[in-house]
Amino acid sequence: MAASESEPLTTEMKEFSMEEIASHTTEEDLWMIIGNRVVDLSKFDDHPGGPDVLESAAGTDATEEFDQIAHSSAAKKQVEDFVIGKLEGTQIISLDDGAGGTGESSTVFTILAIVLAIFFYFYLKK
Ligand code: HEM
Repeated sequence: MAASESEPLTTEMKEFSMEEIASHTTEEDLWMIIGNRVVDLSKFDDHPGGPDVLESAAGTDATEEFDQIAHSSAAKKQVEDFVIGKLEGTQIISLDDGAGGTGESSTVFTILAIVLAIFFYFYLKK
């Protein structure tokens, strides 16, 4: 599933070197890496987290910072609006993997817990 999601993104993507990305660090010319995507945030004037955090991450791989503040899925989708390419020699990393993964497994555990509760309820009733 993850592979088919990232394929359309990776096939026709322009590749940029780390040096190239690291040279776009001003407010008007601001690039960074998020999950191996190269994003051009020069026109992202209304970042809800403020312009300062973006400027301090300019020209770097901000994947961890982006993850750490637990951006909403709307924010993760919005990242795609700014993608101009990818870091050379890499594969795009799905930003939803972590959240989707835990979401899925917690659903499984919830269902399992309910099934077990029902089971024990009838078992103990006997
Ligand atoms: C294309 C890149 C980015 C997009 C589209 C984006 C979008 C957003 C959005 C929509 C929000 C509002 C809250 C939410 O919906 O999650 C937000 C909040 C925030 N973002 Fe970003 N963001 C980006 C990159 C970054 C980066 C690289 C950092 C840190 C270095 C950062 C730090 C923050 C912080 C600190 C907040 C405020 C959280 C809060 O008030 O609770 N963002 N961002």
